[in-house]
Amino acid sequence: MILTKEEERMLAGEFGNAARKSMEILTALGKIYRADRLIPIVSVQVAGVSYHNLGEAGLEYLAELAEDGKVRVKTTLNPAGMDIKNWKGLGIPEEFAKKQMRVIDAFSKMGISPSCTCTPYLIGNKPNFGDHIAWSESSAVAYANSVIGARTNREGGPSALAAALVGKTPNYGLHLKENRKPEIEVAVSAVLDSTPKWGALGYVLGRVAENKIAYITGIRHAEQEWLRSFGASSVTYGSKPLYHIEGLTPEAGLFDVPKESIEVSEAEISSALRALEDDGDDIDFVSIGCPHASVEELKRIAKLLEGKKVKVEFWISLARKIKEQADKLGLVRQIEASGAKFACDTCLAVAPIRGRFKHVATNSAKACFYARGHNKMKTKIGTLEQCIEAAVTGKWR
Ligand code: F3S
Repeated sequence: MILTKEEERMLAGEFGNAARKSMEILTALGKIYRADRLIPIVSVQVAGVSYHNLGEAGLEYLAELAEDGKVRVKTTLNPAGMDIKNWKGLGIPEEFAKKQMRVIDAFSKMGISPSCTCTPYLIGNKPNFGDHIAWSESSAVAYANSVIGARTNREGGPSALAAALVGKTPNYGLHLKENRKPEIEVAVSAVLDSTPKWGALGYVLGRVAENKIAYITGIRHAEQEWLRSFGASSVTYGSKPLYHIEGLTPEAGLFDVPKESIEVSEAEISSALRALEDDGDDIDFVSIGCPHASVEELKRIAKLLEGKKVKVEFWISLARKIKEQADKLGLVRQIEASGAKFACDTCLAVAPIRGRFKHVATNSAKACFYARGHNKMKTKIGTLEQCIEAAVTGKWR
């Protein structure tokens, strides 16, 4: 990999310890993936923020970088292990909260905005078509690549942070047009008209088109919320963090339809939905906002909860800035009147909640994966309406 004079000096430590360590990570990655050079990026999204996943070793590494490291581009964070302001309201232990705040402080010291969200594109960290970025949370990566047409690999937390501290990333993988070519046509004959059905499509895709870029045909219309859930699910269950949808996503028209083709019918979608559910109808936890909720979703939630009281713990995960926008519209007061809780900055996958709940209802296929795996919960997947009914009755119907 050819380095510029400035990059050589960074690697030699002339710009401090954090820049040197970051250059070591980026050049090692570049060598492994045969990148020709480092390329400038316009933004970064760093994962590995929850103390639950980082642990003490991760925190020490961050604290060391924070001694002299400063980010060179707009950088936001993935969800943390708690609502940074209202962790008590979500039942997070104080000891965990203190450690989580040390993590946030280390990131802030490096000049990173402590906006902890997997939907940074909803709160101002939104690249343009063709921009090179270094994002790490899988659903955000899938959305940026596919829906926006920006270019990013799925970075790990350390490589994303290194890219932020250098302002560059190695030029390989999905940064190159030739690697963005679709590899398999997914001809959808099923009617996909809800978030869980799009999540189910992601599940099917992950399983049958493992690690391939899909070219999806047969779709006439897709809400932004559906695409967010689809991208989250497809990467979680195994496909590459880039897809094209004929007539809908910005790069679809740049490529030929791949020769290999599979069909996804109603039968596959129904079977995927069944695979995402467990037995039992008693629900003790409802989780919406995976990926983090938008203001539009909050409007629908407020309407569905009007005049109702929830019977079980109900979290709506979202970016703090989205809650602030919703507050101005009176939605926060309306939703909280039902007993539902806002879980800003966090989500069920990264909060330390294992053992607290037995059976979660959600509209997200990705949430099912983490609820089962990380948190050993049973799952039910359905529409927002079904989830709210479960929150109000404690039953799945
Ligand atoms: Fe986001 Fe957490 Fe889901 S990071 S995509 S809300 S598992």
